[in-house]
Amino acid sequence: MKIAVTGKGGVGKTTFSAVLARLFAAEGKKVLAVDVDPDANLGLALGFTADEVSAITPVSKMKELIAERTGSEGEGMGKFFKINPKVDDIPDTYAHEKNGIKFLIMGTVEVGGGGCVCPEHVVIKRLISHMVVQRDEVLIMDMEAGIEHLGRGTASFVDRFVVVIEPGARSVQTYHAVKKLALDLGVRKVSVVANKVRDAEDEDFVKKNIPAEDLLGCISYNDEILKADRKGVSPFDTSEKAKTEIMRIKERLESAD
Ligand SMILES: Nc1ncnc2c1ncn2[C@@H]1O[C@H](COP(=O)(O)OP(=O)(O)O)[C@@H](O)[C@H]1O
Ligand SMILES: [Mg+2]
Repeated sequence: MKIAVTGKGGVGKTTFSAVLARLFAAEGKKVLAVDVDPDANLGLALGFTADEVSAITPVSKMKELIAERTGSEGEGMGKFFKINPKVDDIPDTYAHEKNGIKFLIMGTVEVGGGGCVCPEHVVIKRLISHMVVQRDEVLIMDMEAGIEHLGRGTASFVDRFVVVIEPGARSVQTYHAVKKLALDLGVRKVSVVANKVRDAEDEDFVKKNIPAEDLLGCISYNDEILKADRKGVSPFDTSEKAKTEIMRIKERLESAD
């Protein structure tokens, strides 16, 4: 299973990605969790401490590695570089492991005008493609908010976009936009997780606006999730309810594959 978790800012992409990753790991599956949000905070939600997270170098900042792999170092830097750098050893060498999950932070890639073909971008794009195509773990990518970046192609290799929504019209718009974009990118499957669902009215709204075949399930609005975030710990370790609800979504995901 190789999924990219998308949606508006603040809807719960990181929360969902982290608990899903922990659930897979808890049953002994190999899991690679990847933070592809420039505003990276998946690490804490997975259960890494703040110190551990700040000790992690994002792939985009591994200057020597990028220079070595793309041949972009030295004279004429940035002019000529390999567009097919070796990346297959990067997950095992550079991922940080905790709670049975391998974790990578991709970091920010500055996008120049007219589309970026900088060495960092080439390495990240190829690395994501490698992780999707050639590795056998469960891959969960916590994406940047919004959808513009999806067009840059870094997520276009995945099996499925999971769009996290809140019960509201703007989120539903995002779902439609992702669905359209997925079609253009050749990502065949788009599913929805509705988060922060407070009551039957919220649930009805979701069911009215999202086709049943696309809806994986709902996660209740839950103070334990908020508290975990305030403490900087994983909601997996503090909320049985969140775990149970996301377990149900995980089962739907597995049977949908
Ligand atoms: N089901 C929920 N109930 C209450 N608060 C939630 C829930 N899911 C997420 N949150 C809170 O909402 C905020 C944004 O969640 P986060 O997962 O970081 O969103 P995103 O990654 O989409 O920006 C966090 O403070 C988080 O704790
Ligand atoms: Mg996030």
